[in-house]
Amino acid sequence: MLNHIIGAKKLHKYYEGEVRVHALRGVDLSIEKGEMVAIMGPSGCGKTTLLNCLSGLDDISKGKVWLDGKDLNSLSDNEKTEMRALNMGFVFQFYNLLPVLSAVENVELPLLLAGKNKMARKKAEKALDMVGLGHRYDHRPSSLSGGERQRVTIARAIVNEPDIIWADEPTGDLDTKSSDKIMDILCKLNEKNGHTMVLVTHEDRVAERAGRTLHMESGVIKKDHKNGDRVR
Ligand SMILES: Nc1ncnc2c1ncn2[C@@H]1O[C@H](COP(=O)(O)OP(=O)(O)OP(=O)(O)O)[C@@H](O)[C@H]1O
Ligand SMILES: [Mg+2]
Repeated sequence: MLNHIIGAKKLHKYYEGEVRVHALRGVDLSIEKGEMVAIMGPSGCGKTTLLNCLSGLDDISKGKVWLDGKDLNSLSDNEKTEMRALNMGFVFQFYNLLPVLSAVENVELPLLLAGKNKMARKKAEKALDMVGLGHRYDHRPSSLSGGERQRVTIARAIVNEPDIIWADEPTGDLDTKSSDKIMDILCKLNEKNGHTMVLVTHEDRVAERAGRTLHMESGVIKKDHKNGDRVR
C-alpha cells in the first residue's frame, strides 16, 4: 500500500433529481503510483462518474476516496481545486479547448491559472513539441484536425507535470492511426515520466496497452486484471 496514490472504499454515488440514479454502487479500488489503468464497460455503467468522483470533480455520496494519502472528504472545495490544478491533468471532452486561444495559449493556461507564470510559454511549447505539434503553436482549435486537437488537450494535461492524468475516452472519435498516436504519447508519458494514468475507453486495442484493466458494470467493478504482455 506504500505507493498507492488513488484509493476508494465502498464508494457510492447517487445523482439526485426527479429520478434518483444510483450510479456507483460500492466501488473498492487501489491504484499504485505509476500505474496505467484502463476502465471499460457499457455506456451508462458509471465510468465517467467514477473518474469525476476519484478526481474530486464531483462529490461522493457515501464511502471514501483517498488521493495521495489525503481523504477527499476532509478537503474543502478550494483545497480540492488547488490539488487538481497542481497535481492533475485532465483529458476530458467537457474540458474543451478555448476556441479564441491558439494551441500554445490553450496549453499554457493551466500554468497561468496555477500562478506559475514563469517560463509558462516555454513549458507550453515543450509540451506541444512532445505531442508532435511543434509546428502548430499558433493554430486555433478550428484550424487543427481532430487528432491534433486531442494532442493539444494532452499537452495541456501534461504541461504541469502532474502526478495523475485522467482521460475520458481520449481516442474517441479518432481513426485507428490517430488513436495509436495518442496512445503512443500516453504510454510514453507513463513509462518515461512515471505519470499515473487512468483512462476510460471502449476500445480493446486501447485498453490492452494499459498495464491493468477494470471492467465496470452497473456501477461496480466486475473484473480487475493485469494485462499480460503489454502491446506497446
Ligand atoms: N448529472 C447527472 N444526473 C443524473 N444522472 C446522471 C448524471 N450523470 C450521469 N448520470 C447517470 O449515471 C449513470 C452513469 O453515467 P456515466 O456518465 O458515469 O456513464 P459512462 O459509463 O461514462 O457512460 P458512457 O460510456 O456513455 O460515457 C448513467 O445511468 C447516467 O444516465
Ligand atoms: Mg462517460
